[in-house]
Amino acid sequence: MASEPSTKIPLKTLSSGHNMPIVAVGTSGLSFDPDNAKGVIIEAIKIGYRHFDTACSYGSEGALGEAIAEALQLGLIESRADVFITSKLWCTDNHPEHVLSAIKTSLSNLKMDYLDLYLIHWPISTIPGPVTFPLKREEVMPLDLKGVWKAMEQCQNLGLTRSIGVSNFTTKKLEELIQFAKIPPAVNQVEMNLAWQQQKLKEYCTKKGITITAHSPLGGQNRFYPNLVLTSDVLKEIADAKGKSIAQISLRWILEQGVGIVVKSFNKERLKQNLEIFNWELTEAERAKIRSIQQRKGVTTEIMLASEGSLTSVDFADIDIVET
Ligand SMILES: NC(=O)c1ccc[n+]([C@@H]2O[C@H](COP(=O)([O-])OP(=O)(O)OC[C@H]3O[C@@H](n4cnc5c(N)ncnc54)[C@H](OP(=O)(O)O)[C@@H]3O)[C@@H](O)[C@H]2O)c1
Repeated sequence: MASEPSTKIPLKTLSSGHNMPIVAVGTSGLSFDPDNAKGVIIEAIKIGYRHFDTACSYGSEGALGEAIAEALQLGLIESRADVFITSKLWCTDNHPEHVLSAIKTSLSNLKMDYLDLYLIHWPISTIPGPVTFPLKREEVMPLDLKGVWKAMEQCQNLGLTRSIGVSNFTTKKLEELIQFAKIPPAVNQVEMNLAWQQQKLKEYCTKKGITITAHSPLGGQNRFYPNLVLTSDVLKEIADAKGKSIAQISLRWILEQGVGIVVKSFNKERLKQNLEIFNWELTEAERAKIRSIQQRKGVTTEIMLASEGSLTSVDFADIDIVET
């Protein structure tokens, strides 16, 4: 029998009827090392994490699958059903005829027979081929969202994933999707943090029964822009006065929005720290200070695209809409 971890992460019921642990470990890394990642994931399971966020484009599916298999062998979990695995469809496979083979590749990398959640990673489609990042501007093509979503629905109907959803979708893109979706998106995973609070999108998703999960909750791994969360004076003042870290103040605020969190740490102490957010709350005065923090979208399509070249067949006006 698997031993109980000290922290039990609360669950959120998605529109699909399945339960999702509200805090996930992110596995994208600027310097991803599969051996290190495997050890980190096993540590995370010991601490109490049960939800892991991966993507075909992160190169972390293999290490995650191995870590889960080892956790099973070690008796840290009893069965595959004890963990919740999210993966994502990359832009090069964002074509109706590529979705099924893409999810099968992800499952093969993970050595699993189903995902818990499969997301369209971006509302962007590029010429089919191997995963590329950044995307070549000339290779961006119009997205057949209706056809891709139908194929996502097929993945769920075939039992290859329990739930389906999207990522980096604005209210406008969601509105388009909802017009033809037979299975509504269960989740929209978007950048959400104290420097990009996403109140309009949150209100819209709440109304439509779409669960938001916040990626880049600590401001992201910023190669492209300064981190406005971990360096915020406002947050430092709140954190010092409360005896918490800036990261904990940030994660607690997101939790209080009623949304899920995907936070990446490959450090055991910080993994622990990021779960110590459940038994206390922010005061109204602290929330008011947080509302005053300057807003700036960090994860834009600009950072997805190679700097050279130009878009030939689409513009991104409806993807980069700024909704505060
Ligand atoms: N759907 C999408 O398009 C999308 C985009 C971006 C990210 N994501 C997902 O969301 C996950 C999280 O986003 P992210 O990785 O970009 O950024 P993030 O979680 O906001 O920040 C991660 C960075 O913060 C550090 N960190 C973690 N805990 C900390 C703490 N308690 N105190 C101080 N620093 C701390 C980490 O370093 P250490 O590892 O050294 O602790 C790492 O450098 C990703 O891993 C990925 O799974 C999805």
